[in-house]
Amino acid sequence: MRKNIVAGNWKMNKNLQEGVALATELKEIVSNPNCEVIIGTPFIHLATVSELLKDSVIKVSAENCADKVSGAYTGEVSAEMVKSTGAEYCILGHSERRAYYGETYEILKEKVQLALANDLKPIFCIGEVKEEREAGKQNEVVKAQLEGSVFNLSAEDFGKIVLAYEPVWAIGTGLTATPEQAQEIHAYIRGLVAEKYGNEVADNCTILYGGSCNAKNAAGLFANPDIDGGLIGGASLKAEDFKAIIDAF
Ligand code: 13P
Repeated sequence: MRKNIVAGNWKMNKNLQEGVALATELKEIVSNPNCEVIIGTPFIHLATVSELLKDSVIKVSAENCADKVSGAYTGEVSAEMVKSTGAEYCILGHSERRAYYGETYEILKEKVQLALANDLKPIFCIGEVKEEREAGKQNEVVKAQLEGSVFNLSAEDFGKIVLAYEPVWAIGTGLTATPEQAQEIHAYIRGLVAEKYGNEVADNCTILYGGSCNAKNAAGLFANPDIDGGLIGGASLKAEDFKAIIDAF
């Protein structure tokens, strides 16, 4: 059976001391969750937070990694470096990286392969912008994103990735997709995975919802058969809020 997951994405928030304080608080209050719990932190927190959480149930994720192995790429952080911090996951393909840092399907394909080659599990984000949703093109968009960056993987490798459907119009806007809207497209995504890799891989694939998910709407979203948890931005920055979403399971 597939895993349910609640994952935080801190984005570019929290300095080192603030991040350590939040991770410490989470470690104290999250003890026996009914789902896997992950926090995605900026690179600079990874080593310290991984060490801090090593005996806890909370796992650690990066928010990005480089599309190159190593070498003269000033300012970049490789998948191998991320792995060496103790992190287990790596968020890739977030819409903010696609929109603001020009991450193309090809670049993301490289990043996913490097993450997997370094034994990191990608949390691969897909989702349409508002104009695409208004034009009824959301299915087309997520299909192209999957085909462009992850459907080249072997079934074995695909089985290691987590998908996150994040409609861009719902991120940080307070406009959550309704449980019906989210379930509909999650079922479509699972269907695409089944067509490509078969029913068993599709059944085992965790598909998270992200976009203004909070303590109030999480239970309604997670109650759907194809919504296996959430990727949480704003509400992952306060321990109590994040815990309340974990408790929705
Ligand atoms: P918000 O929860 O702040 O809308 O962000 C969602 C997100 O982008 C998680 O990756």
